[in-house]
Amino acid sequence: MSHPVDFNDRMLSLGLARVSEAAALASAQLIGRGDEKAADQAAVDAMRTQLNMLDIDGVVVIGEGERDEAPMLFIGEKVGNGEGPAVDIALDPLEGTTLTAKDMPNALAVIAMGPRGSMLHAPDVYMDKLAVGPGYPEGVVSLDMTPHERVEALAAARGCAPADITVCILERPRHEALIADVRKTGAAIRLITDGDVAGVIHCAEAEKTGIDMYMGAGGAPEGVLAAAALKCMGGQIYGRLLFRNDDERGRAARAGITDLDKVYARDDMVTQDVIFAATGVTDGSILSGIKREPNYLEAETVLMRSKTGSVRRMRYRNPKR
Ligand code: FBP
Repeated sequence: MSHPVDFNDRMLSLGLARVSEAAALASAQLIGRGDEKAADQAAVDAMRTQLNMLDIDGVVVIGEGERDEAPMLFIGEKVGNGEGPAVDIALDPLEGTTLTAKDMPNALAVIAMGPRGSMLHAPDVYMDKLAVGPGYPEGVVSLDMTPHERVEALAAARGCAPADITVCILERPRHEALIADVRKTGAAIRLITDGDVAGVIHCAEAEKTGIDMYMGAGGAPEGVLAAAALKCMGGQIYGRLLFRNDDERGRAARAGITDLDKVYARDDMVTQDVIFAATGVTDGSILSGIKREPNYLEAETVLMRSKTGSVRRMRYRNPKR
């Protein structure tokens, strides 16, 4: 049993909002310009600069990639000014690089912070994910159920017909069978082209987004970020790592993972209280995107603490100089 560690989350949370804001604002001029790499680079640079101003002794555990793949914000990179609590950081400076380049909905700048050792060091492989929002009994759906069984179980728990359930799924050829099985129940499917952190967060605000459940394979690092968000907002997420070859199994070994078939529940991925911030880059159902006016840029950020369950929404206006 791990003991909760106080890492000054209350004061640090406001700094964390500045970090995601800076990343989103930096990528703003690249929205809709067809250049994923440039948009990502701008967000990475800005996020790193802001992060290094914080009074933390931070280590990136979910980042832009392994050290030899990413020049900045790589896994293991030390961040912060070194003068505060020892914390782990999970980040995605631009979750939805293609969404940003094509000016499509729900691109976000995302970051989570918790005490050292609080987050799963997920390797950069796929993860089979299943998430629902708050208010359901623990284990109402599971990765061991077939997709149609999950829809039926959730509908029974909600007291509605399967046709009243909406499931969010990444539109990928690998999900053809999954989609066909969900369709058998009559449930609606919201297909998204990218951005499954936002896809999972949608479940936590079902009344606003219309999405009851998320399922399918996406990035494992994004799974940990989504788990951090649901730890603050409530809701369940389950993930199982998927390996396609020895290189991917090697990534798991380097991350210290030995049980390759383990199902991770939300609190296995994020074991202690965390803080989480996301800023909208493009307009979406949870956050507005960056608004570009002649004299200013405006950003909307959601900032959450799992210890208190507080959810703070902030609008920041940044004058153009
Ligand atoms: P990027 O922001 O790195 O482009 O990731 C977007 C994303 O859609 C994630 O949200 C998702 O987990 C992953 O890519 C899915 O991977 P793939 O595109 O290989 O199916």
